[in-house]
Amino acid sequence: MTTPTVLVVDFGAQYAQLIARRVREAHVFSEIVPNTITAKEVKDSGAKALILSGGPKSVYENPAPSMDAAIYDLGIPILGICYGAQLMALQLGGEVANTGTGEYGRTEITRQGRSHLMDGWANINTVWMSHGDAIVKAPEGFTVTASSPEAPVSVMEDAERRLYAVQFHTEVVHTQNGQQLLETFLHTLAELPNSWTNTSIIEDQVALIRAQVGDEKVLCALSGGVDSAVAAALVTKAVGKQLTCVFVDTGLMRMNEGEQIEQTFMRQFGVDLVHVKAQDRFFDALAGVTDPEKKRKIIGELFIREFEAVARDLAAGGNGPRFLVQGTLYPDVIESGSGHAANIKSHHNVGGLPDDLSFDLVEPLRSLFKDEVRHIGEELGLPGEIVWRQPFPGPGLAVRIVGEVTRERAEILRNADYVVVDEIKKAGLYRDLWQSFAVLPAVRTVGVMGDGRTYAYPIVIRAVTSDDAMTADWARLPYDLVETIANRLIREVDGVNRVALDVTSKPPGTIEWE
Ligand code: XMP
Repeated sequence: MTTPTVLVVDFGAQYAQLIARRVREAHVFSEIVPNTITAKEVKDSGAKALILSGGPKSVYENPAPSMDAAIYDLGIPILGICYGAQLMALQLGGEVANTGTGEYGRTEITRQGRSHLMDGWANINTVWMSHGDAIVKAPEGFTVTASSPEAPVSVMEDAERRLYAVQFHTEVVHTQNGQQLLETFLHTLAELPNSWTNTSIIEDQVALIRAQVGDEKVLCALSGGVDSAVAAALVTKAVGKQLTCVFVDTGLMRMNEGEQIEQTFMRQFGVDLVHVKAQDRFFDALAGVTDPEKKRKIIGELFIREFEAVARDLAAGGNGPRFLVQGTLYPDVIESGSGHAANIKSHHNVGGLPDDLSFDLVEPLRSLFKDEVRHIGEELGLPGEIVWRQPFPGPGLAVRIVGEVTRERAEILRNADYVVVDEIKKAGLYRDLWQSFAVLPAVRTVGVMGDGRTYAYPIVIRAVTSDDAMTADWARLPYDLVETIANRLIREVDGVNRVALDVTSKPPGTIEWE
């Protein structure tokens, strides 16, 4: 069960992740490795091809990331992209220079002669460039097969040594035929089959889980989110009878979240599910608390206590669970392991579990990107509503209720949130938005309904687009949709008499209100 692997050598983290995802979309497994990897390590890994990523530096900066040049002699096909292309040129005896203006954005390249990478392409193609330096002379043995005004060596190829390089970013959608070029490299030139599919991922993970767990018992905390649900579904497929899932209802979940989890895991999958209805304990602990960080801390600590109580109960008979399932994803693994990626995770994951619980971890999503997780979730039979759910913070609705969190205010917000999401889904925008939800401020405003004066809460509509939650733009929702949402909020949600739209990007705002 060895999956042929492509190693993506990282010269600047964002670039490497996108390349790794594109390789996987071509149904070939890929892993990101630091540029300090040695030729011996590459050989021992059994990698079938290498891709050198782009990066923010110039090859002439000191220090600039380099790579063990003996890797070129291994006979493994290599594709250099942007910085990776320039480094390949430099290390093999070519020349890289600062030619003056550089190229940024859409650029036309013109082909010349026969090309293995661009077989069948038109003479002129639009690609996405982003470079100051350019390769001005290809190393010996290479043929130049395309050029642009500022990049005389836009593409160079040495078919005999199986070394290829492109100055443009083949991994971005703005490059015409970009994915095709990558697939030609992987399937035709490196001769790699389509072996990374949803089915193969599931089969591999099921076998790995079985091997790790044996006949021991396993515990999994379900949060309502995609990751824990898919992780649990994989473990169910592998060792369903040994698994117990725990869902702690904090009273701060979205509408129907608890029922959906019961429906899916208990009734559809037949999993042993402990549904802890802890709402009262959470509301009691939150009474009178208005400080956002205090709320987070209270919720996080109480969640752990609730979870530990279940684990203790299960262990009471002597044969308790030894393993704990975690929905850790590949980007988290790279972020904590790579020398390049700035450590950008700022949120302590409230609703997560502490390290000192005495379990061994089962992490079946450790090598997967979020989009892969969603697709295998679908394949495993999870409902679309869970699989395509937008991210939801660990402390739940509490960080969207400004001021005190009470049962009544949580209920108002849950109902309002349902309306916002329902209309956004009906408009077909749910999957395009990173997050879309309702916020309950701590003020009341005067209104008039029928003949009477009202004094009730406003609801703020918050909808953002984003790739990774580090930055976000406020979503330009159509005004008609905003109007429909506003009308429904006031008509259907008791306690609401006014609606506002949040038009703040991140920065300067955050996505959540607290
Ligand atoms: P902000 O509000 O900081 O949120 O722009 C960025 C992303 O993180 C989520 N978020 C949290 N997730 N525990 C979590 O697990 C938290 O305390 C928390 N606070 C915010 C938020 O929903 C967004 O996706």
